[in-house]
Amino acid sequence: MNAADSLARLDPAHAAYLQGGAGDEITLRANRQAWQDLPLWPRSLRPLAGSHTRIELLGRTWPSPLLVAPMAHQMLAHPQGEQGTALAAAALGVGMVLGCQASQRLEDVARPVATDTSRGPLWFQLYLQPRREDTLALVRRAEAAGFEALVLTVDAPVQGVRDRELQAGFRLPPGLTAFNLPPSAPESLDALLARAATADDIAWLRALTRLPLLLKGVLHPADAADAVALGIDGLIVSNHGGRTLDTAVSTARALPAVVEAVAGAVPVLVDGGIRRGTDVLKALALGARAVLVGRPVLVGLAADGARGVAVVLRRLLDEFQAAQALSGCHHPAEAASLGLLGPGFGVENIFNTNNSHL
Ligand code: LAC
Repeated sequence: MNAADSLARLDPAHAAYLQGGAGDEITLRANRQAWQDLPLWPRSLRPLAGSHTRIELLGRTWPSPLLVAPMAHQMLAHPQGEQGTALAAAALGVGMVLGCQASQRLEDVARPVATDTSRGPLWFQLYLQPRREDTLALVRRAEAAGFEALVLTVDAPVQGVRDRELQAGFRLPPGLTAFNLPPSAPESLDALLARAATADDIAWLRALTRLPLLLKGVLHPADAADAVALGIDGLIVSNHGGRTLDTAVSTARALPAVVEAVAGAVPVLVDGGIRRGTDVLKALALGARAVLVGRPVLVGLAADGARGVAVVLRRLLDEFQAAQALSGCHHPAEAASLGLLGPGFGVENIFNTNNSHL
């Protein structure tokens, strides 16, 4: 699927919002480059009978190590919106993380897929709302709708400065709002900064729900260790797809340090720049338990609704299966133990510090 063709069908300002990044988009590009720069060291002479792509995550078995990343306002890409994405993901056994800024009601997205026994994980992403009772209401709705985990995004206390989006003059079109959130007036910078997620907020959220709680947007290993101490159930290494802090470290580079800091206490997932099955395999080889994919899904959605998303996800899954087999790997959980990133692999030497990517 050609991204340029698919996005050319959209209002250019909408395409700029959906595909753009912060500042000079250095992190946006570095995310992709960092996966590309990692050479695979495939293994051979290994029996491959009985290979599969299933994973264990948060106490359950899922068909594949792929999830759709949370992305806001998907009706900008196609009238089917998040429902189209969720249906395609479920049909292919791929997980879905619904963003709280969805353009459709969370119940309407979950209902058609929640009872599908062959789907992937169904998780709900949230931002802390200005009033705690609004966050609480959102959590209760997500629980009732059948979402199986909460993903709290912690890397965007304020929105990144997105030049591409600003230059294109992006505004949400009339009629398209974040329906799941209470209407809120624009807030001052001081007000936004005052409610950046803190350890207290995480402890509060942890205590109010039995759902597993993952933090998304962690890059620094010191934060990863703190998050584990707060009792969270998983971490997603992410720089928000390069949409928040430009020149932030690429996720492929941050991942091994976070995996080391977490030391197996909770699963670590990653997103950012995953475009190929080989990228998925490399993420698993670096210790991720699953990966999230964002922009390619929106390209598929813009091209042909749920059908387009299915084409994109099918291709990624096929590529991943081939990459796994060609590397002598039976199943995703094995990827981290085969030395697929080279005999000298270690956190400190995985990336050449002279590389130009972040
Ligand atoms: C974004 C916000 C919605 O990246 O997370 O656009």
